[in-house]
Amino acid sequence: MRFGTRNDSLLAEGARAHYREPLYYTKNYKSRTADVAFYRDLAARSGGPVLEYGCGNGRITIPIAQQGVEIVGMDHAKEMLASFAERLKKLPEDVRDRITLVRGDMRKKRIRKRFKLVLCTFNSLLHLYDRADIEGFLACVRSHLQPGGRLVFDVSMPSASELARDPNRGFRVPPMRYPATGELVRYAEYFDYDAARQILYVTMKFEPVDAPERAWTTLLAHRQYHPKELEALLHYNGFEVESVTSDFDKTPLDRYTDSAVWTARLGRKGARS
Ligand SMILES: C[S@@+](CC[C@H](N)C(=O)[O-])C[C@H]1O[C@@H](n2cnc3c(N)ncnc32)[C@H](O)[C@@H]1O
Repeated sequence: MRFGTRNDSLLAEGARAHYREPLYYTKNYKSRTADVAFYRDLAARSGGPVLEYGCGNGRITIPIAQQGVEIVGMDHAKEMLASFAERLKKLPEDVRDRITLVRGDMRKKRIRKRFKLVLCTFNSLLHLYDRADIEGFLACVRSHLQPGGRLVFDVSMPSASELARDPNRGFRVPPMRYPATGELVRYAEYFDYDAARQILYVTMKFEPVDAPERAWTTLLAHRQYHPKELEALLHYNGFEVESVTSDFDKTPLDRYTDSAVWTARLGRKGARS
């Protein structure tokens, strides 16, 4: 069954474009630290080994390895992995030795190793757009979990006000220096929600202050998962939800939650598969 009429090439672009500029990515998420501390402590308590899906350029992977935990980071974006490899060169040898990078698609890539903790960090799961995507992903997680191991991931909660935004209205922030070129750019975001496919398209517009004719855009496509849908998907794919908490401070999920943090383990049926 196919939902909606949106162009698949637009979706393919929205799945990848944001990760082609790791320098900008790093600058943009520099102040996001609560999730790093949360996953770092969780990984240290688990003792490892840890598998992180959607590791990007190592924002969370590296602090985990710095805690003495062995970790495999998987991502399909070659630009993010190249940036990660550059960062590795600057790390002490013992930290470097604890990190293994794998290029692969988390919907199908299997490696011959099982983990105590499987992570899917910072909205990486929102790039699983259809049921087949998430079922492929959860089958991979099942095959990588040790008995008693846990899957932990965080996803932004769908926000009714964001989804209802006028797609023609730009949300602006003060001009900033674009890291790849150092030029001053104006920045605005446009939100366009495809309710049939439950995909939020965010167009990021960059406009050099001194050369507005060189403006460019980057598209980001995020599937919107409502909590009850995720609970059902986990249940019917062999997982039991242990907890769903709010914004990395372990308080219960509520209407003000920004990031929902899910912890699941294999149920009896999932453990047999
Ligand atoms: C928002 S970034 C998170 C990166 C990193 N975990 C962090 O917290 O900074 C999402 C990452 O998921 C990766 N990704 C998206 N879909 C993927 C897939 N199907 N298989 C593997 N990686 C994927 C992207 O390439 C990107 O690096």
